[in-house]
Amino acid sequence: MRKYTDLNPNDPADRPTWVDEVDNPYLHGPYAPVVSEITAVDLKTTAGEIPPDLYGAYLRNGPNPILKPRGPYHWFDGDGMVHGVYFRDGGASYIRKWIQTRALHEEIASGRVEKSGMMGPFNLDMIRGRESVAINPDYCKDTSNTTLNLFNGKILTAWYNAGRIHRLDPLTLETEGEETFGGALRTTMNAHGKTDPRTGEFINYDYGDFQPYLTYYVIGADGKMRHQTRIDLPGPRLPHDTTITPNYTILHDFPLFHDPELLKRSGYRMVTFHRDLPTRFGVIARYGTQEQVRWFEFQPGYVLHMVNAWEDGDWITMDGCFQPDPTIRRNPEEGPLASMLAYLRYTGHLRRWRMNLKTGEKQEQQLDDLNVEFCLPDAYMYGVKTRYSYHQLIPTDLQTLAFEGLVKYDHSNGSREVYRYPQGWYGSESPFGKGSPGDDEDDGYAITLATNVADYRSEAWIFDARRITAGPIARIALPGRVPSGFHAMWVAGHELWPGAALAA
Ligand SMILES: [Fe+2]
Repeated sequence: MRKYTDLNPNDPADRPTWVDEVDNPYLHGPYAPVVSEITAVDLKTTAGEIPPDLYGAYLRNGPNPILKPRGPYHWFDGDGMVHGVYFRDGGASYIRKWIQTRALHEEIASGRVEKSGMMGPFNLDMIRGRESVAINPDYCKDTSNTTLNLFNGKILTAWYNAGRIHRLDPLTLETEGEETFGGALRTTMNAHGKTDPRTGEFINYDYGDFQPYLTYYVIGADGKMRHQTRIDLPGPRLPHDTTITPNYTILHDFPLFHDPELLKRSGYRMVTFHRDLPTRFGVIARYGTQEQVRWFEFQPGYVLHMVNAWEDGDWITMDGCFQPDPTIRRNPEEGPLASMLAYLRYTGHLRRWRMNLKTGEKQEQQLDDLNVEFCLPDAYMYGVKTRYSYHQLIPTDLQTLAFEGLVKYDHSNGSREVYRYPQGWYGSESPFGKGSPGDDEDDGYAITLATNVADYRSEAWIFDARRITAGPIARIALPGRVPSGFHAMWVAGHELWPGAALAA
């Protein structure tokens, strides 16, 4: 297995010096944090031209710790930083800015990291006293570093392990505060809520190691809480994503979860794969209650990210990236970091599940065998049938999680196109951005942020979504390095500059 140290040493110019004291792969090379915020305009291309019809913003969240961690560092512990590239009239500008979480405020005030990360050490008294409390991050640093959603004109960021929702201005990336939907939200929320592009509603849930194991929410397009209901599960679970259709939400129950007794006893969040239990998907009407959830059982495994789901008569079809054997295989040579490194490594493929709400019939089918994840359709088509999706190619022979190529799938026949990033370049999740209105679903662009680990250059790359294999049609030099990170999204220009859209 290739080690992270094979990738490169550290950027000599743009990194906090404390990273040199910490032996952790997710603090070095392509993962090393940067030291400042940037706002820059009139970016220059290094190749090609920015398409004049590319109108909107590519936003990406990711970890960027400011201070030396307390205890062992997990990739999810890094303070959230959002990188934004804004495209308009054939030009581009760039902003990178930290998310102002309460954990970050505490750190800046005290000059040191106050809270433990995901690998502890934990305050066991706080965990034991939490049995009926739903807030997870009280005993663990909530960095909001994982996802982004556009909702009610704002960007909502969230954390991997269910955290507080933070609200950002979409144009400046300034943090406006924690989003509680008028005080109605009293729990954390899962990272992967979905905004319905047709109704503007925000659909999400909270989950945790203690009862209630899952609480389902629908927020109206006006920002007001419209619906919440407790969903009973057999025990604590580790869902990560969800999908929506116009009428339903699909919830996840995978046989990969913590041992709550061990957690209370030791604070150790050991994850075990129970291969004797099924994968279960729960279909709930958007405003349904737990008594109305229809559960469908499938082959055991795990899914981090779904592509999309849609209704087809009595059927719901759902595509996603499936891990048939999510066993956490620790490599003893990796020492105390073995658990984190093992958990973040990925082996999986594109898969389709179908559920008949009338007959209870079910189907599942592997669509391909390529090792892909971080899968996105045109997110403005969440909930309706999509033909195409854009994934990252994940190496199976690397110690850490890295993105080595862009893959476009045609779900009508399972075929794919692959563009491998050039040697030394690592990409980011690559959302689709619509160009000039056209009839074809892939009439637009896929965009990624790529970093060269040989000289620490970062660029925004724009691909013609119909010709991924041709490589980027434009490469834009960014004024700072973009460390490897988590989720990205495309925000259409009319949502950012509504006045300009009207004038046009
Ligand atoms: Fe995710």
